[in-house]
Amino acid sequence: MTSRISTDLSGQVAIVTGAARGLGRRIAETLATAGAKIACVDVSAEVLAGTVEAIRAAGGTAEPIACDVTNSDRVSEVIDEVITKFGALNILVNNAGITRDNVIVRMKDDQWDAVIAVNLRGTFLFCRAAARPMMKARQGHIVNVASVSGLMGNPGQANYSASKAGVIGLTRTIARELAGRNITVNAVAPGFIATDMTAKLGEEILTKVREEIPLGRLGDPQDVADAVLFLVSPAASFVTGHILTVDGGLTA
Ligand code: NAI
Repeated sequence: MTSRISTDLSGQVAIVTGAARGLGRRIAETLATAGAKIACVDVSAEVLAGTVEAIRAAGGTAEPIACDVTNSDRVSEVIDEVITKFGALNILVNNAGITRDNVIVRMKDDQWDAVIAVNLRGTFLFCRAAARPMMKARQGHIVNVASVSGLMGNPGQANYSASKAGVIGLTRTIARELAGRNITVNAVAPGFIATDMTAKLGEEILTKVREEIPLGRLGDPQDVADAVLFLVSPAASFVTGHILTVDGGLTA
């Protein structure tokens, strides 16, 4: 038998949430380069202009879709819009996420609620809405973007860590629920990756972080995008319920 290692996703339709910048943008561009048509989801169409233009300029297909991932009705509409526009839904990447860091004694209710809403509820809403058409089609790949903070503690991130541990539990359970319909559900758990989210930490903390990472560097968004590409490719057809760390050895 010949190897199925291939990055050809031509004819497939993918939704990527939080596609305006950072990891989401790189994931959207990477899946588009592999041939998938991309529904780029973010808080407004305006913030998605850069991603959509870059994909189209490279010869790919992309549409901007404004959607707050915490809005249940809007999430259901988006799934319908994508299927009407592109005729199918093969891949869902739940990447939209936020941080509102604070130590536990100072953490405000709204910091807790906002992070759980975007990171966990948003992922749940898109998984639930996408599951129906994927079950009907008896195919699909879902990849949730978790974090090493969902696997190990990280001071100042009780809300974020709880949300990402929740995403990991959600991923493992729906992997079992949907496996009978030929749908794979996996997560990537990035460590520290160079994006706007980590730039907020400042150079002093980032220097310490680099010292703690066995590979001695922050990850590049492409490190995460390629892991997502693997999980939605034919090479990973027997991989489901897996949490793939992309962390330079931080959790080794
Ligand atoms: P980022 O802050 O650069 O980008 C996040 C994107 O999500 C933005 O485009 C933002 O507009 C969008 N977004 C936020 N709230 C939204 C909502 N309610 N509805 C729709 N879109 C929304 O973040 P980054 O670094 O690219 O992170 C992407 C994902 O990767 C997140 O889930 C994050 O938790 C995760 N992650 C990032 C790591 C890193 O080192 N950068 C490490 C581990 C996980």
